Amino acid sequence: MPELSVVIVASDSEQRAVLQVLVDSTSVARSVHTCASFPVAATDPVTRRIQTANADVILVDIPADNASPALHAIELLQREMPDSALFAVGSLSQPQVIVNAMRCGAREFVEKPTTTTDLLEAFVRLTTAQRKSRREESRGRMFTVVNAKGGSGGTTVAVNLALAVQAAHGSTALVDIAPLGHCALHLNLKPLFSVGDAIRNLHRLDSSLLESFMTRHGGGLQLLAGPNTPVPAEPSTAEFAKLFDLLIGHFRYVVVDASSRIDATTRLVSNLANVVLMVAHTDVASLWSAARVQQYLSESGSREKVQLILNRFRKIPGFSESDAEAAAGVKLLWKIPNQYFAVSTAIDRGVPLSQQNNTEIARSFAGLAARLTENDLDVKRKAWSLFKTV
Ligand SMILES: Nc1ncnc2c1ncn2[C@@H]1O[C@H](COP(=O)(O)OP(=O)(O)OP(=O)(O)O)[C@@H](O)[C@H]1O
Ligand SMILES: [Mg+2]
Repeated sequence: MPELSVVIVASDSEQRAVLQVLVDSTSVARSVHTCASFPVAATDPVTRRIQTANADVILVDIPADNASPALHAIELLQREMPDSALFAVGSLSQPQVIVNAMRCGAREFVEKPTTTTDLLEAFVRLTTAQRKSRREESRGRMFTVVNAKGGSGGTTVAVNLALAVQAAHGSTALVDIAPLGHCALHLNLKPLFSVGDAIRNLHRLDSSLLESFMTRHGGGLQLLAGPNTPVPAEPSTAEFAKLFDLLIGHFRYVVVDASSRIDATTRLVSNLANVVLMVAHTDVASLWSAARVQQYLSESGSREKVQLILNRFRKIPGFSESDAEAAAGVKLLWKIPNQYFAVSTAIDRGVPLSQQNNTEIARSFAGLAARLTENDLDVKRKAWSLFKTV
């Protein structure tokens, strides 16, 4: 546990000294500044000194005979220093004071006379909550790959994108939710477990059990495989939601191959995703289907997330990229070249495109991965700097 810095505000000198000793003896916190008077305004020098200390916690002692100046100070400090946690120290025999302290923004009400244990517990609660919110900030990003029409190349895109993201950033999972999972075949893996096993064990699923259901590919990509035979009873969307919540809590990137599965689960997984990649060909039937699928996914609010991937791209005289976008009603994100020999050999042999010497199509997937993750590092750096303690 990191050491917390604490400012103590107490008008009574004896109480100030007691609190200082108690804080320092918790061994998880250290008093960095003490104040003998309550700040009354933002411009008050007392307020400025507290701000300069920039502590994790501000302990405000509430005198039993006159609570108002302390309560006002809590309200003021909470407003002026929203990143610090305000702890009120007071008597439990004054319930109205407790209520008022909480209303003014106190995060904890520590009983008087105070013990080291009381303070230690309050500090641990604070650190746990901070860690939790840090986890929320650093949750993984998710890309869902959906076909406009069967056989458009959803699995090829999901597998090669996942491999490229893993190669560039690590910590990537590929999750196969297609009705019949083909990802393992593309990667030449023989999974022992599948999505179904993870869902059957949801009640006890933690990070290590989740990893044990995954199959590791040579470069580090982790596959949660799809079924290798059609399954009669599908898990509920609530179960899928719980599984994906765990996945994005555990991996930095999660790529989902929904392929031609267009149902409530794909809609859910599109909702959870940061970007939905709609894979289509440059022909009328494919683009017509893309428009229908995008409409279906949009009904639950995924519209802006859906982006078009034109696979097996070829230029058609008199038909521009903006015509394709207009026909599909989806903005074009990327074009993948038509290289049947390279792709079909990769699938047949289970040797990914990225491992076949520097083909144009391998570069295209690396480019797509770079495009989808280009802003992530900045976002992460910013999130990191928000936290003083780790
Ligand atoms: N960029 C490409 N260039 C040439 N051929 C490709 C390309 N992408 C995919 N293919 C070919 O298209 C076929 C279908 O690919 P894939 O299995 O990825 O499709 P899918 O959309 O996932 O299919 P399904 O709807 O059954 O899930 C494969 O045989 C593959 O060789
Ligand atoms: Mg597929």
